[in-house]
Amino acid sequence: MSFLCATRMRGGYGGADILQGCDITVEKGEIAVIVGPNGAGKSTAMKAVFGMMSLREGSVVFDGEDITKLSPQDRVAKGMGFVPQTNNIFGTMSVEENLEMGGFLRRDDISVTIEQIYDLFPILREKRAQAAGELSGGQRQQVAVGRALMTQPKLLLLDEPTAGVSPIVMDELFDRIIEVARSGVSILMVEQNARQALEIADKGYVLVQGGNAYTDTGAALLANPEVRRTFLGG
Ligand SMILES: Nc1ncnc2c1ncn2[C@@H]1O[C@H](COP(=O)(O)OP(=O)(O)OP(=O)(O)O)[C@@H](O)[C@H]1O
Ligand SMILES: [Mg+2]
Repeated sequence: MSFLCATRMRGGYGGADILQGCDITVEKGEIAVIVGPNGAGKSTAMKAVFGMMSLREGSVVFDGEDITKLSPQDRVAKGMGFVPQTNNIFGTMSVEENLEMGGFLRRDDISVTIEQIYDLFPILREKRAQAAGELSGGQRQQVAVGRALMTQPKLLLLDEPTAGVSPIVMDELFDRIIEVARSGVSILMVEQNARQALEIADKGYVLVQGGNAYTDTGAALLANPEVRRTFLGG
């Protein structure tokens, strides 16, 4: 069984189902990427995996355990970290306070993890005392990812980590995400920069209207003429 197995997810926000039987699996240490049009339900699928919305049908099994009924906080304790698409930092708090907030569930010494995050994102060490809201878009995303890494997750959920950043900053962020994956952390990432994200993906999902339109390796999706034409701009 896969490390994360979200199976036949159905549900929404009270009205019609947004997720229409969506399946997502992620293996240990793998980078899995979800792409698809606006409103397809990508963020909803991430929220469902993290327990921020309850499923009407389907299940989420993580590390061999059925966690379908667990709260987000309990999922964090089981080893999930989540970076939401919006409002993912505390703007008035310093960079370091953001990281400390990320570690609030831990009872052990968090200073080693903070240093590891500063090694991963050296600019954050320089800006540790600055209000996170004053940083550039790319730096704020680094704070958001760093905050999620503070709980030492086994699976990191990233909803559009490169939204609003320049191509150079995007490449840089993707390199850091690859580095995190190589350290053994599984990554499930939603990306608007579909082509570039699929290039670093072990596995990709094209989500359309809450269901899986295509599932394949990143390379195979990039080579698929239909996927290219419809979702990757040719
Ligand atoms: N909190 C909410 N309450 C009600 N409906 C919502 C809520 N969040 C999202 N939706 C609806 O669910 C559908 C899917 O939204 P979702 O945010 O999952 O799409 P997405 O694929 O992440 O889109 P985007 O690429 O724009 O981020 C949309 O029709 C949206 O209007
Ligand atoms: Mg979204």
